[in-house]
Amino acid sequence: MSIGQPLARPDGRAKVTGRAKYAADQWVSGALHGVYVGAPIPAGRIVSIDASHALAAPGVVRVLTAPDLPRLALAPVPPLASSFMPMQGDEIRYEGQPVAIVIGETLEAAQHGARLVDMQYDRAPFRIEGRGEIEVPSSTSGYVAFMEGSEFKKGDAEAGLAAAAPRHEAVYTQPSRHNNPMEPSATLARWEGDQLTVFDAVQHGYSAQLVLATAFGIDPVKVRVICPHTGGGFGSKGYVWPHEILAAAAAKAIGRPVKLVLTRAQMYANVGYQPRMVQTMRLGVDPGGRLTGLTHDVVGLTGMSDDFVDPATEASKGLYAVPAMRLSQWIQRAHVNLPTAMRAPVEGPGTWALESAMDELAHQLGVDPLDLRLTNYAEVNPGDGRPWSSKKLREAYEAGAKLFGWRERPREQQRDGQWLVGTGMASCTMGCFRFPSTVRLRLELDGSAVIEGGFHDIGSGTLTIFPQIAAEVLGLDPNRVSCEMGDTALPQAGPTYGSSSTMGVGAAVLYAAQDIRSKLARLAGLPPEEVELREGRISRKGMRDGVAVADVLRQAGISEVVGEGTFALANNAPFEGDGKGTPYAMRTFGAIFVEVGVDPELGLLRLRRAVGSYSAGRIINPRTARSQMTGGIIWGWGMAAMEASHQDPALGRWSSKNLAGVAIPVNADIPSDIQIHFVDEFDRHASPLGGKGIGELGATGVAAAVANAVFDATGKRVRELPITPDKLV
Ligand code: MOS
Repeated sequence: MSIGQPLARPDGRAKVTGRAKYAADQWVSGALHGVYVGAPIPAGRIVSIDASHALAAPGVVRVLTAPDLPRLALAPVPPLASSFMPMQGDEIRYEGQPVAIVIGETLEAAQHGARLVDMQYDRAPFRIEGRGEIEVPSSTSGYVAFMEGSEFKKGDAEAGLAAAAPRHEAVYTQPSRHNNPMEPSATLARWEGDQLTVFDAVQHGYSAQLVLATAFGIDPVKVRVICPHTGGGFGSKGYVWPHEILAAAAAKAIGRPVKLVLTRAQMYANVGYQPRMVQTMRLGVDPGGRLTGLTHDVVGLTGMSDDFVDPATEASKGLYAVPAMRLSQWIQRAHVNLPTAMRAPVEGPGTWALESAMDELAHQLGVDPLDLRLTNYAEVNPGDGRPWSSKKLREAYEAGAKLFGWRERPREQQRDGQWLVGTGMASCTMGCFRFPSTVRLRLELDGSAVIEGGFHDIGSGTLTIFPQIAAEVLGLDPNRVSCEMGDTALPQAGPTYGSSSTMGVGAAVLYAAQDIRSKLARLAGLPPEEVELREGRISRKGMRDGVAVADVLRQAGISEVVGEGTFALANNAPFEGDGKGTPYAMRTFGAIFVEVGVDPELGLLRLRRAVGSYSAGRIINPRTARSQMTGGIIWGWGMAAMEASHQDPALGRWSSKNLAGVAIPVNADIPSDIQIHFVDEFDRHASPLGGKGIGELGATGVAAAVANAVFDATGKRVRELPITPDKLV
């Protein structure tokens, strides 16, 4: 049994020794280096660009500006991230927007040349985040279509609230935050006639393939996207950003391959980030603590070109049994590059507001915050009444509370030296996104196997668990199964975002392995439905004898068996959220319990310990799963206490465009005592594997749990993230 084993990552050694090749490490002969010149102003027009000094510098080959590039056609948004394509005209809509690409023989020459480009521009008035008028997002926005409109109503929320006692109303704010994966985005583009090959840093190569094919008006089969390793993404490499297209456009313009690597600072202006969000929560209960009505209104930052919406209200639609609710999403524009999804989108922001509000309501009612959640436990999907595909949140609450000692926690004020100690909890939840997926699997005569598919591993452990799935069916040691991945020339696998890989790609691997098992059975003259593979032998289920697989192949005169597996959705849908269109609502759930310390004199906040307990379907690899959840809790702790990106009001640029200027949890901020528990669960509706998604679930609920614990420790309710010392002294 290899499913359920805590296997270590086979790619670990290559990654820590630097042998793994990321996009920026790739090279093709004849390639030149491209370096962006960014606009120094957030709004206006380019009047002129003087490239003469740059061109005079040694090693500078060309300075490309808008007129030098082909006109680019735009694919739908998403997967194209933004409908505003830089370097197609003279308009500037955000600071750092590329206005020229300097092409050099070396990276240093191109970088030097980029500093010598002279630009004249006309400034225009610009809008700063959080100050513009509040607008209803356009229903034609692809981002709004994703959530099927920006408003949701069930029953009469106002009447439900009017009848409630007590009621709670408050506004919860979170700042913009940048994804900042370890690997900055990079693209190496090469044209051979009308064939385009790009080495790219992506979470879904096929999205880049489609967007690039559209941009240049060519068939997608003529575009190959290669990305064997992705150094994190957290959503910033999910959709397709302008640099991926402009690198290919530059290569086309100069007739040589071009490598364009974004610097850390350039990542701030050239890929997305999580937008600033202001959430107004109103909820009320009857005297028994049962919710009678809820409204959740979100205002999110977007750029000038598209109505990006991070649908935070989904948390309120899916977590508690509420008879009446009204949920709405609004936008507020600024001269910023477009935001995007960031781990965990949707329910990450949504649970910050909802789970803070639930805690406040519990205190008003004078009941234990956990009991208020149990009173409002949703036996069916609150939004539409469908039954759950599976849900063991009750068990997760119970196990988490036990591990943490929640019920036994002292209720009087606790001190540890100068630290005020407090505890808090929150529910966790994440939607289930499912994507179709195909993979091919080869079983070789020597007993090894290869999984072939255009999937990626962004650090979450997919390339560790897929071999476990194949090995389970084929009766192999998982170390004998490898992955050939990250290339659009391979069978089309689903994306590596939305916590979807295990369900979609994992299921395709399972089907491919079952296909091989059936083929072997037929070759061996055994009934395909009644065989099993174990230690290199095929036999009837439960029988000890059987035939060596190698002998079956030799007798058939073949050296390998090739299987194929496809995970498809109803009506061949390209995407499905929360089991829409199926009889079952699909979600993952959990509970997070934290203990914090607050130094009231210095305003310091420390996470002392945490317990995360989850109902997320079957766990394929407890080691990589634990690592995902621990990472999610740390990510949530950063959201709670540290992370914030600010737009400078005078310059209209993001401040501190580097990792040194970004406060995120480092080792000294992370307690060793983080316990993770998974409820034993098998969701047969979500995936034939029984698994669901876990990558983002762990990052939900954490910020609220921390704020709730801060209230417990200090009596101060913080409704604005991050919870920095100025808010605690
Ligand atoms: Mo994640 S924001 O779905 O990469």
